[in-house]
Amino acid sequence: MLRTHTCGQLRPDDAGITVTLSGWVQKARDLGGMTFVDLRDRYGITQLAFNMDSNATLCEQARKLGREFVIQVEGTVRVRESVNKKIPTGEIEIDVTVLRVLNASETPPFTIEDNTDGGDDLRMKYRYLDLRRRPVQANLMLRHRVNIETRKYLDGIEFIDVETPYLIKSTPEGARDFVVPSRMNPGQFYALPQSPQTFKQLLMVSGFDRYYQIVKCFRDEDLRADRQPEFTQIDCEMAFVEQQDVLDTFEGLVRHLFSTVLDTEIGDFPHMTYNEAMRLYGSDKPDLRFGMVFQDMTALTQGADFKIFNEAETVLGIVVPGGASFTRKQLDKLTDWVRRPQIGARGLVYCKVNEDGTTKSSVDKFYDEVARENWVKQTGAAKGDLILVLCGGLDTTRKQLGELRLHMGSELNLRDPFNFKPLWVIDFPLLEWDEDTARYHAMHHPFTAPKPEHMGLLDKDPGAVRANAYDMVINGVEVGGGSIRIHDKDIQARMFDLLGFTPEQAEAQFGFLMNAFRYGAPPHGGLALGFDRLCSLFGGVGTIRDFIAFPKNNQGRDVMIDAPSPIDDTQYEELYLSSTAPEND
Ligand code: AMO
Repeated sequence: MLRTHTCGQLRPDDAGITVTLSGWVQKARDLGGMTFVDLRDRYGITQLAFNMDSNATLCEQARKLGREFVIQVEGTVRVRESVNKKIPTGEIEIDVTVLRVLNASETPPFTIEDNTDGGDDLRMKYRYLDLRRRPVQANLMLRHRVNIETRKYLDGIEFIDVETPYLIKSTPEGARDFVVPSRMNPGQFYALPQSPQTFKQLLMVSGFDRYYQIVKCFRDEDLRADRQPEFTQIDCEMAFVEQQDVLDTFEGLVRHLFSTVLDTEIGDFPHMTYNEAMRLYGSDKPDLRFGMVFQDMTALTQGADFKIFNEAETVLGIVVPGGASFTRKQLDKLTDWVRRPQIGARGLVYCKVNEDGTTKSSVDKFYDEVARENWVKQTGAAKGDLILVLCGGLDTTRKQLGELRLHMGSELNLRDPFNFKPLWVIDFPLLEWDEDTARYHAMHHPFTAPKPEHMGLLDKDPGAVRANAYDMVINGVEVGGGSIRIHDKDIQARMFDLLGFTPEQAEAQFGFLMNAFRYGAPPHGGLALGFDRLCSLFGGVGTIRDFIAFPKNNQGRDVMIDAPSPIDDTQYEELYLSSTAPEND
C-alpha cells in the first residue's frame, strides 16, 4: 500500500506516530518560514507542514506542488497550534520528512472545491474531475448506501436478485425503445429494456415468488431534471399477493431506507385515489408538504356578468395563506407567470381577504362584496389570505392550477426538501384515450389487472375501468409505480384487444407471455422504484443527474466520451444498415 492511513483518519491520539499518506494536493500556502499543503482523498483532508528551518530542500519542493498533483508523504503526526474546527482532522498535521510526487497535474479547468467555479458543461466534460469534489462524492456514497440497504432489506425478506437480459425485443407500448442492430440476424434488431416487466412476470410463473433487481432501464424519451435515457430501477415482483401486501412490503423498504440512510422516521403513507388527487391537487403526484387544496368555485361564480367564468367548464381556486399582503407588482408577476407558454393560462383572478374582513378582487366590477364574502366562506379563506382563481377546461385548468400551487408552495418556502411527505396514489384508470391515435393506451402497462369489480365495465365503458395500480409519491415526486398483474391468458388477450392489437400482433409481440400463462401462472404483482429519484430525494436535490456517476445531458449526450457518435462504414455494412454513413455536420 502506498499509505498507512487515509486523509480523514488521524486524530490527536495519533500524535507522535510515523505515517505515510497519499492523495491530491488541494491547495498549498506558502507563509515564508512554513509551507502548508492540504492533502485530499475520498476520506478527508489532512494538513501537511513543511518547515524551511528544519528542511529547506523539502520545503522548496513543497512550494512547487501544483493543484491536483498526486503525492505521497511520510512524516510524524503532531497536534496543531491553530486548530481548524471545520474538518475532523483539524486538530493535527503531519510534520513531513519525505515527499514524493507520484504524478504531476495540469491546472484543472475548474476548482475542485465544494463551490466550484466550473459551469455545468465544463464539469460534465471533465466529469472525472467533478467527481473528485466532496459534494458529488457524497452523493455517490449516499447512492451506494441506498443500494446496500435495499439489498439487505429485500434479502432479509426472501427476495432473490435475478438478472434479466439487456438485449430484448422491441415492443410498441410505452416510451420509444433504443434499438440495437443484430449482426448475426441481418435486418433485425434487439431493443434495450424499458424495464424488465415481462421477465419478472415470467420469473413468477417459474416459482421464484419474490424477485428483485437493481437494474438499468432505457427509454428514448424527452429528458427533464428527473428523467435520464438510462436510469436505474429497484425492480420487484411478488407472487401470491394482493395490492395491500405489495404496498406494505415496499412501504417497509422505504421506511428502512429513510431510517438507515437518513436516520429519519417518516410518517404514514396515506392512500389517495387517482380521482381525489386530480380533484384536490390537479396532479397524480401531489406534494403534501403544504395544503392549498383546490376549491371548486364553478357554481359559486356563475350568474354574474363575468363571461370568462360563465363560459368556462370549470373555475378552480386555491387559498394562499398570508397572501393578502402581496403587492400589485407581485400579483402582476404571478399573472405573467401563469400566462407563460409553459403554463398557458389566459389570466389570473385574485381576491384578497383583508385583515378587517373586507375583500378586494381583480373582478370587483362583476362580484360585489356579498358575492366575494361567499367565495371566502366557501373556500375557507381566512383574514390575510389570498384566493387565486383559474378557469377553463377541466383537465387544463387542473394542470395549470397544480403548477401554480407548486409555484406558490416554493415562493412561500413550504417545500423543505427534508420534510418528507409520502403517500400512495391508488385506483389509477386502466386505460387512457389518445386523441392522436384514436385508441386506448394502457395508463401503466398492458399487464396491469383491472379491479375485479370493474371487469364487467371492460366491454361497456373501458375508460371508466380502474386498475389495481399504484404509485408511491413523496414530496411531489413519483418515486415508484406498480400494479397487480393479469395472470389469466384470456383476460390478457382481452386487454391486448382493447389496446388495438390484432390477435396476430398480440401473439407476435407477447406470445411468450400468453403461452407462459397457459402453464400455471400464480396471481402476482409488484412495483419498481426509481433508484435515481429516490437518491436525489434523500439528498434533497431535484436533479437525478447529481446522483449518477456519468449522466447524459439534456440532449441525451455524454459530452465526456462524446456519445452518441457516428460509426464507420464497415460497421454499417456489417450491420446491414446501409452501405455508407450519412453525412454528419
Ligand atoms: P414505471 O414506468 O412507472 O414502471 O417506472 C417506475 C419508476 O421508475 C422511475 N423512472 C425514471 N427515472 C428516471 N428516468 C426515467 N426516464 C424514468 N422513467 C421512470 C420512476 C418510476 O416511478 N415495469 C413498471 C413497474 C411495475 O409495474 O412493476 C415500470 O417500469 O420513479
